[in-house]
Amino acid sequence: MNIKHAVTEKEKNELDQLLWNVLWKPLGLPRDIRQSFKLNYPQIELIAVDSGNVVGCLVANWLSDDEIEIRHIAVSFDYQGRSVGRRLVGKLIELVELNVPITIHTYARNTSAGFFSKLGFIPTGEYLEHPDFAKHGIANQKMYCEIREIT
Ligand SMILES: CC(C)(COP(=O)(O)OP(=O)(O)OC[C@H]1O[C@@H](n2cnc3c(N)ncnc32)[C@H](O)[C@@H]1OP(=O)(O)O)[C@@H](O)C(=O)NCCC(=O)NCCS
Repeated sequence: MNIKHAVTEKEKNELDQLLWNVLWKPLGLPRDIRQSFKLNYPQIELIAVDSGNVVGCLVANWLSDDEIEIRHIAVSFDYQGRSVGRRLVGKLIELVELNVPITIHTYARNTSAGFFSKLGFIPTGEYLEHPDFAKHGIANQKMYCEIREIT
């Protein structure tokens, strides 16, 4: 398996399709819902590719010189629990400049907070409520991780 930047139109489309399949389609949300979550900051798009197929992806934004938000992360259903998510976050950490300590934060679904905890993320106690998610019992809690050196 290879973890890399999504560069080509095809890779970006496959990333977009995977996010949709895993994160939003099961909740009955519109196909273009991702647009409403877009942030106007420099973006990093990573994909995990196995046998030519995109099986995992991560979208993050640089909010400032020392703060990154993981906006979305998704692993295809048949690859979950096989370290793809861990490797995507690991690649993100490896890629970022470490001249200064940086903070990575995310708004984790309650269903994935355990994953981020395993990776060393800590809850801030702040929650983000969104009616489209709340009706499915999904709350998003802010979690963060301080990166000081590549481990
Ligand atoms: C959450 C997600 C990205 C994790 O990726 P993954 O490849 O399945 O996770 P990994 O195999 O890398 O797991 C790393 C560790 O986290 C644990 N873990 C994974 N998902 C977990 C979850 N949902 N809850 C609790 N622990 C979890 C694993 O057991 C593993 O622990 P270990 O190191 O002790 O074995 C993936 O399962 C997914 O796409 N889920 C559905 C979409 C989603 O919830 N995305 C996040 C939105 S905020």
